[in-house]
Amino acid sequence: MLAILYDRIRGDERMLFDAAFELGIPWKKVYLPQLRMELGARPDALKEVTVGLERSVSQSRGLAAARYLEALGLPVVNRPEVIEAAGDKWATSTQLARAGVPQPRTALAVSPEEAIALAEDWGYPVVLKPVVGSWGRMVSKANDRDALEAILEHKAFMGYQHQLYYLQEYVEKPGRDIRVFVVGDEAIAAIYRKSAHWITNTARGGEAENCPVTDEIFEVSVAAARALGGGVLAIDLFESERGLLVNEVNHTMEFKNSVRTTGVNIPRKILEYAWKQAAG
Ligand SMILES: Nc1ncnc2c1ncn2[C@@H]1O[C@H](COP(=O)(O)OP(=O)(O)O)[C@@H](O)[C@H]1O
Ligand SMILES: [Mg+2]
Repeated sequence: MLAILYDRIRGDERMLFDAAFELGIPWKKVYLPQLRMELGARPDALKEVTVGLERSVSQSRGLAAARYLEALGLPVVNRPEVIEAAGDKWATSTQLARAGVPQPRTALAVSPEEAIALAEDWGYPVVLKPVVGSWGRMVSKANDRDALEAILEHKAFMGYQHQLYYLQEYVEKPGRDIRVFVVGDEAIAAIYRKSAHWITNTARGGEAENCPVTDEIFEVSVAAARALGGGVLAIDLFESERGLLVNEVNHTMEFKNSVRTTGVNIPRKILEYAWKQAAG
């Protein structure tokens, strides 16, 4: 039996539930806040379960649950190492670099002084991001040293998390970026996210449009997914003069608005993949 682990039912989860019914696979919902994760004792909620699909909106909760399933000997989508790597931009970047996957010029500084020294060497604009975060929150672009110093001062004042400064070159995108939906070894669909603003997140008003999956998109996004350990992942790409660059990898993909846009039954593909991972 497949367990869909959740804590909030968004449109995406509802579509996964519907797809599970349609596929006719044995499945159940497991509400994470009520799951007792005692080691060495399998809770009733997981009695018949042979595989888990983790859909928590909280990174830390999802990771904790994925670890618990593995402790019970159950396969889980995504695996904890993958959630960890995708949930941390520096972990993602270092693993992409190790695998030779193209990405924007990226560096980490652990002091504001080094962050400024880096930017001065690179030239402006630079993009500064929280290592953990999503929906474009706190992603900042500094067009000159004054702006960067102001951002760094604000961060110091706010007690910014562990004082990690994740810096990237600013990539001149053609008013859009590309989100690719990867399931296992396949890039099943992609969308353009268009915006007049340089931050193109749909959560920030970016508009979605179907993007044909070219060979290059397929290759670079599957390579990025593999670099992090594989599974069900949304890969964000920038089109640049140097070709496609991987910006980030998301481990709990949101797809509810992309099914109609792409004509691909994304939830069905996710469930078919998860069900294939089920233990004997
Ligand atoms: N280095 C960059 N150059 C140009 N645009 C960027 C850069 N980094 C991020 N962006 C824009 O900001 C958006 C949010 O950044 P991202 O790294 O995806 O953070 P989040 O995890 O919050 O979505 C991206 O989708 C992209 O449109
Ligand atoms: Mg993003």
